[in-house]
Amino acid sequence: MQVIIFDDAQQVTNNATQWVVELINKKPNPVLGLATGSTPISLYKSLVTKYKAGELSFKNTTSFNLDEYLGIDGSNKQSYRYFMDKNLFDHVDINKNNTFLPTCARGENPREQGLSYEESIKKAGGIDLQILGIGANGHIGFNEPTSSLASRTRIKTLTQQTLDDNSRLFKSDEFQPTLAMTMGIATILDARYVLLMATGKNKAKAVKDMINGPLSATCPSSALQLHENAIILLDKEAASELENLDYYTWANTQNRKINQEFGLYHNY
Ligand code: PGA
Repeated sequence: MQVIIFDDAQQVTNNATQWVVELINKKPNPVLGLATGSTPISLYKSLVTKYKAGELSFKNTTSFNLDEYLGIDGSNKQSYRYFMDKNLFDHVDINKNNTFLPTCARGENPREQGLSYEESIKKAGGIDLQILGIGANGHIGFNEPTSSLASRTRIKTLTQQTLDDNSRLFKSDEFQPTLAMTMGIATILDARYVLLMATGKNKAKAVKDMINGPLSATCPSSALQLHENAIILLDKEAASELENLDYYTWANTQNRKINQEFGLYHNY
């Protein structure tokens, strides 16, 4: 894991933006894995700004989102399709036919839908860079604690903690889904690079469990310990419970020197 600690959330956003811009400008047909939630909103804003400034084009980009609620469709303001349209897709030149979310409409079979999502990712050549947030309970996507570390795209029941954490986003008269389709942990681990962003004190415990804790389904994000190219971008608050804080600062100084000498090496 490459753990990079920044002074504040803005710097986390700036660095995440650089990763995405580099991928899109480097690879002719990039495949991006996207996430929803509060954390990546600033990343999408920054990408829209860069697009509007003519610094990048999403014309050849294909995207796969981590998850989508069950029981509401894409026109519902609470759906992740709606979120992606509003925060990114409507503002850039991406072809919406190349933007995918793991949906399961009424009458469809979630098992078949999960398999078909996995097939679509394969057919696109696999995900180059998967953006991730982290839940306060350590989830990635909607892979809740005790999710199999070998899981693939499937239907998942949300935990009470996730429902409580997300209830702030629902008005009292709005339906809050309790089921979702989500990429599995093995699906996420297949991405060539994963870029996890975490900011704020309420993520500190989950971040500690992910990085310093044992590999365990109790903290699904700890599976990233098995990933060859996991980049973890943290602000100081999210990093505040980490052991070996000094080491990460030291290692990043060294990494900057290594990159200066040998150039950045991202094997997309
Ligand atoms: P958040 O959600 O960015 O809204 O904190 C992250 C997640 O649950 O993965």
